[in-house]
Amino acid sequence: MSKDIYIHGTEPSEQERLAVLNRMTNAAFVAFLQVPAGARVLEVGSGLGLLAVDVADAASGVQVTGVEISAAQIAASPIHPRVTFVQGDAHTLQFPPASFDLVYARYLLEHVRDPQRVLREMHRVVKPGGRVAVCENDVSLIRFDPPCPAFDRAWRVFTEFQSTLGGDGLVGRRLFRLFRDAGFDEVELSVQPEVHWHGSPGYVAWVHNIIGNLESARNGMLAAGVISQSDLNAGVAELERLKTDSTGSAVFVWNRAKATR
Ligand SMILES: C[S@@+](CC[C@H](N)C(=O)[O-])C[C@H]1O[C@@H](n2cnc3c(N)ncnc32)[C@H](O)[C@@H]1O
Repeated sequence: MSKDIYIHGTEPSEQERLAVLNRMTNAAFVAFLQVPAGARVLEVGSGLGLLAVDVADAASGVQVTGVEISAAQIAASPIHPRVTFVQGDAHTLQFPPASFDLVYARYLLEHVRDPQRVLREMHRVVKPGGRVAVCENDVSLIRFDPPCPAFDRAWRVFTEFQSTLGGDGLVGRRLFRLFRDAGFDEVELSVQPEVHWHGSPGYVAWVHNIIGNLESARNGMLAAGVISQSDLNAGVAELERLKTDSTGSAVFVWNRAKATR
């Protein structure tokens, strides 16, 4: 069970951050999935369930099951006639082999102890000829301008702290190898870009999302003594200033992989 390694927690501010992130990123991810009409779909690590609902609405007759380890996330998930949420662990999926046409995970593999095992489980439960798709973090790919050195230092601590919990914020760079080792022969990599600048529609929300990542781990990092309150505050303050800086810009890419079984 991975709850204790989940760096973000489920505080209301974190739930709001995740909901805003879903609103920013769901359309691109649903397009990437190319959901076939009538498909039986599994989302592994369904969080607040917002993506599962958008996937269900992507084509007619799509049935989505979301499997999620946290009862709090399931309780917060919406009701939809073609979406079911069940509690379970991605490392030991409770479904028989070849149960789904499409199996996906987003922002999950960085939070699990054994991403290889999770992908093997996703390989097991997808039908022959079905597809598995993921979208994950490599937090080293983040860029802000003007430079934010205090943020950069806090972000490095955040990344190291996540790995001490058992996660891997850099897992996105390993996707090709993880898929191959999980038994997939034909794997296709791609990225989903986040490119924002002062005045563009998603700029403030994106910078705020990165602040929210740090804030979600604030108590844990301070309790572990890995960063001082003043250093953490300095990193956050730089990004708060960047939100209103008329010369500010931000670039990031999500790492994606897709394979057919
Ligand atoms: C960052 S959220 C992403 C949620 C959703 N996939 C999305 O894109 O919005 C990651 C979710 O994975 C869940 N999770 C972490 N470890 C898990 C595991 N071993 N099995 C199932 N879910 C897990 C967490 O509880 C959290 O809700």
